[in-house]
Order: sequence, then structure tokens, then C-alpha cells
Amino acid sequence: MELRRIDRLPPYVFTAVDEMKIAARRHGEDIIDLGMGNPDLPTPSPIVDKLVEAARHGRNHRYSASRGITKLRLALSDWYRRRFGVEIDPECEAVVTIGAKEGLAHLMWVLVRSGDTALVPEPTYPIHQFSAVFAGAEVNSVPLTPDTTDFFADLQEAYDRTWPRPRVILVSFPHNPTGHCVDLGFFERLVRFARENDVFIVHDFAYAEIVFDGYEPPSILQVPGAKDVAVEFISLSKSHSMPGWRIGFAAGNAEVIAGLQRLKSYLDYGVFQPIQIAAIIALNECDTVSRQVAQVYQRRRDVLCDGLTRVGWPVERPKGTMFVWAPIPGDYRELGSLEFSKLLLTEARVAVSPGVGFGRSGDGFVRFALVENEERIRQGVQGIKRAIECADGRRSRR
Ligand SMILES: Cc1ncc(COP(=O)(O)O)c(C=O)c1O
Repeated sequence: MELRRIDRLPPYVFTAVDEMKIAARRHGEDIIDLGMGNPDLPTPSPIVDKLVEAARHGRNHRYSASRGITKLRLALSDWYRRRFGVEIDPECEAVVTIGAKEGLAHLMWVLVRSGDTALVPEPTYPIHQFSAVFAGAEVNSVPLTPDTTDFFADLQEAYDRTWPRPRVILVSFPHNPTGHCVDLGFFERLVRFARENDVFIVHDFAYAEIVFDGYEPPSILQVPGAKDVAVEFISLSKSHSMPGWRIGFAAGNAEVIAGLQRLKSYLDYGVFQPIQIAAIIALNECDTVSRQVAQVYQRRRDVLCDGLTRVGWPVERPKGTMFVWAPIPGDYRELGSLEFSKLLLTEARVAVSPGVGFGRSGDGFVRFALVENEERIRQGVQGIKRAIECADGRRSRR
């Protein structure tokens, strides 16, 4: 049987490393797992307590509202005002999603179809590219590398080269996997461009709270007039350590939000209501928690980046996200990221994500996710040091 839609998906390279990791663990090996961006910190107790309390009430076991309960959309609106000075009308400019990932995938269904094109950075978090693919559209990639100095200019150039003109531009900063960050000026230019060229902007702001060294990440909705041309995604997965809960939001342009709400009303009955009720606590009462979570990731980032640099593998410290995007050291570059990741797993007992999984141009990199504690990260760096020394020794004996 020839399958539709998924036939445009490349083999999922993350699975190859994951399977090796599982096999190694089955053999009793201690693998430091910095592969998937799956937060290891527990959800704060006030949020868990609220879930438990709400789950005891039978009335919360029914189908919920697919666009999210009013009080939760109101809490999102309050959060935007407090955090960014942005006004969001909870009635018509916000929708609750089953995590940002689900929201992104379905949003593309209402924005593009066969014959349309979306502009997306590359490498990037896979659903950024594949949401447009699933919706039947073409994707044009805009390279995002450590050498990128003016991503807006690169976007503009890609736009000018594309015909028919792209209908959607998807961006996401702080960026997974590269850690690239932008300032408000970037979004001002992007919004102006979108208004002038009648193109729609989707901003995935999943790492809004995971930022370091005093960096203040801008929301695209801070730009006056952004709501005419943009929608932004917020996720509680990283900021509030709620990845398994599956809850996120889209906010912005009322017409597009209404489109997504309408589509979702045919697809789902909303997130389990006790989770939505607990998410109100997350948004209303846990600002300090998300700052503490960011500090944990910042300390882990420092341990990893300093450690790798010390053992002869210099890497840049990102200003945001929970990832370190590391160029494969020169001697190993020709292996490519998949083989190098396998080598790190077998020789250093460290699992990472091969850069090629985020797009072809990611092949010179691997991505470390900061999801083990500082001690375990130190242990991982020691493993890498030993693996590099062994490989160097083998090479010099040849
Ligand atoms: C850029 C980006 N967007 C969205 C997500 C997923 O968010 P959620 O858990 O809300 O679906 C991730 C998870 O790694 C991500 O890196």
C-alpha cells in the first residue's frame, strides 16, 4: 500500500541513536542521555496539587472546550500583559493547544495547501518544516548557521527568490537547535515586511522563559500591528517543566486563531480539563519557578560548554533554549553527524542528537540537550575526553 503524506518524510535519524541507547542500557551500560529535549525536572508541586484536586471532581472528566476553558485563556492574556506588556483578547485572540507541536502542525492546515510555499529556517525543530509538508505545501529553507549575522536579510533574499511568493514565514527564537536569538528590532523588520508583502508570520516561542545571562527574548506580539500578520506559540513544556502534560497556546491574529479553533473543534475535545485548571496555576502563580528553571539550565549549559572547551572541543554558549549546538570537531567531521553520534554513544557513553535530524545542513553538528544534572553532565564530558584521547592515540599509532 502506498501511503500518503508520510511518504514525504525522511527516515527518522533520531531513532537510530535512540535504539542504540536502549540496547546499551539493556546491557547494563550507564548512558548519559543528552539526546531528546525531554525536560527531567519535575513539575512544580502547586501545579501537580491543583491537577490532583481538579481530577477528583467528576465534572472535570467530561469533554472540555476544544479551544480551552475561558479562565485559562484569561490567564494567558494576563501573562502576556505582565511579561511583555501585550494585550491579548482571551475571547478571540487565544487558543489552547495540545502542546505547541500539535498547534503548529494544525495551524499550517489552515494557512497553506498544495501549491503554497512556506519559508522555514534550516536546520530547525522538525515540525517547523513538516507541518507545511503535512498540509501539502512546499517548503523553502533559509540557512541558519553560526555564521548567520543578519537572518532577516537572508529571509528576505529567500523570499525574493521564491515564486509563487511564500504565503507563510515560520520562525522560532530562541532557536532549537542552533540557540540563535534575536532582538525586538528583528521582529519590527519582519512585521513591516509581512505587512508590505501580505505574508503571514508564525513564531514558535517555546523557549520564551529559557534564557540566560540577562538576555530578554522579545515576543513578536510586542511589535505594534503584529496581530495583523502574526500568530505566536507559547508552551508550558519547558518553562514549567510540563512536557508530558501536553499544553500550549497560540495567540495573535483573530482571524487565524478563529480558523485554528474551528479546525480543532472538528479534531479534538480539548486538553483534559484538570490539566487546563492546573495550567492556570502555572501561568498565574509560577513566574519565579520559570526563572529558577532557566537558572538550572544555565548552570548545566556552563558545565557542558566549559567542560567541552577544556577537553579540546570548543563550543559556544547559547543565550537561550535548553540545547548546545556543537560543531563536530575537525578530525571527525567527515563521519557525518549520525556516525559521530553513534561514536559518542559507544565510546563516550553519551547520547546526543545527530544534527542531520534537524535538516541536511545540520550534518556538521550534534545537539546536546541539557536534561541531566550537572554531575552527570561532568561525567559525560569525562567520557568524551577519554573517547577523544583514545581516538587520538589510535590515529597516532597508525
Ligand atoms: C522549538 C520547539 N517548539 C515546540 C516544541 C514542543 O513544544 P510542546 O511540548 O509544547 O509541544 C519543542 C520541543 O522540543 C521545541 O523545541
